[in-house]
Amino acid sequence: MQIGIYPGSFDPVTNGHIDIIKRSAKLVDVLIVAILQNNKKTSLFTMEERIKLIEESCKDIENIQIETFSGLLVDFAKEKNANLIIRGLRALTDFEYEFQMAQMNKHLHNDMETIFLVTDVKYSFLSSSAIKEVASFGGSVCDFVPEIVAEKTLEKYKGE
Ligand code: PNS
Repeated sequence: MQIGIYPGSFDPVTNGHIDIIKRSAKLVDVLIVAILQNNKKTSLFTMEERIKLIEESCKDIENIQIETFSGLLVDFAKEKNANLIIRGLRALTDFEYEFQMAQMNKHLHNDMETIFLVTDVKYSFLSSSAIKEVASFGGSVCDFVPEIVAEKTLEKYKGE
């Protein structure tokens, strides 16, 4: 059985992430969407909220599991019997960081493979940070994230 892992911060999940989730789910038997619990980084959404938003946005995908992890991704992957990491590549600017991460993961665990799915061009400028920036100034993010995510993101900044 091929188990793939799509790791990220997902703070919050965007349409670009969802596109990668949908496409990756077709390539593996089980896709684990793994949310990093990162105490060094302040997040807008709590872990519970991020899980819920992904669950709500990916209701129609049958072979996904949404999990959280802390520490090294390769350790989590080993624990889950997964040897495939999937990441989206938006532009050349993503490449250096992704290449470094893939090399490090391979070095840490030689059986670990990373595959990159090229982001659909219509999502190539999307990032969770950009969504937060726009929403923080009251701008509409409806075109970039599922409705529930847009609603919850704007709510976060209301009254600031
Ligand atoms: O959505 P992001 O923030 O680009 O995702 C980054 C993520 C979670 C994939 C990456 O930070 C990660 O895997 N962190 C866990 C720590 C780790 O394993 N680091 C080794 C690779 S350099």
